Amino acid sequence: MNYLIAPSVLAADFANLQRDIEMVNSSDADWFHVDIMDGVFVPNISFGFPVLEAINRYAKKPLDVHLMITDPDRYIEAFAKAGASVITVHYEACTHLHRTVDAIKKLGCKAGVALNPHTPVSLLENVIQDIDLALIMSVNPGFGGQKFISQTYKKVQSLRDLSIGVNDNLMIEIDGGVNLDNAPLLMEAGANVLVAGNFVFSAEDPISTIQALKAIKTG
Ligand code: DX5
Ligand code: ZN
Repeated sequence: MNYLIAPSVLAADFANLQRDIEMVNSSDADWFHVDIMDGVFVPNISFGFPVLEAINRYAKKPLDVHLMITDPDRYIEAFAKAGASVITVHYEACTHLHRTVDAIKKLGCKAGVALNPHTPVSLLENVIQDIDLALIMSVNPGFGGQKFISQTYKKVQSLRDLSIGVNDNLMIEIDGGVNLDNAPLLMEAGANVLVAGNFVFSAEDPISTIQALKAIKTG
């Protein structure tokens, strides 16, 4: 199975952001995962457009933008203009999710929907055919470096089952606490995009850590 690795810029050294972006450019990674937090939807504030635009100036791989913000409709166009290739909104933050997904696709971006750890995958049943990607949070959103929640494996498996015959191209992305121990099991369960923040950026050798994540044998 083909799968993607998306290092999370949240774990980069912001005083050396260009250096860290070049590291990802020169690695086996597929996407840049970019976490936007508004301090309302999640109890943390990350960064906004000036930083995103700076990332986009140097990044040579698609920007996978994860919006942990309330009422994301207000900013979707601005994120598309700032260089996002994938825009993922939270199920819990959207009253009119179908309309939001449609708006993302009309801007030429891939549309993703994220689920918090407590949100059942069955809630995606009536939107699954319209989305490009579903992101399953494997930690509570807001911070990098948290412990992986093992309930995630079951969620991945049920979401993959739900997608069969309805959206066979659905990308299933896992975000939070991903490492070399859980990555093979996640892929076995049906995930095909893995975000890794601290596991990559805190590693002694980030390039070979990404290489190791890319080299996992899948069935
Ligand atoms: C958490 C963010 C994640 C985070 C992952 O709210 O959405 O993308 O950066 O970081 P690690 O891999 O360190 O858990
Ligand atoms: Zn994220």
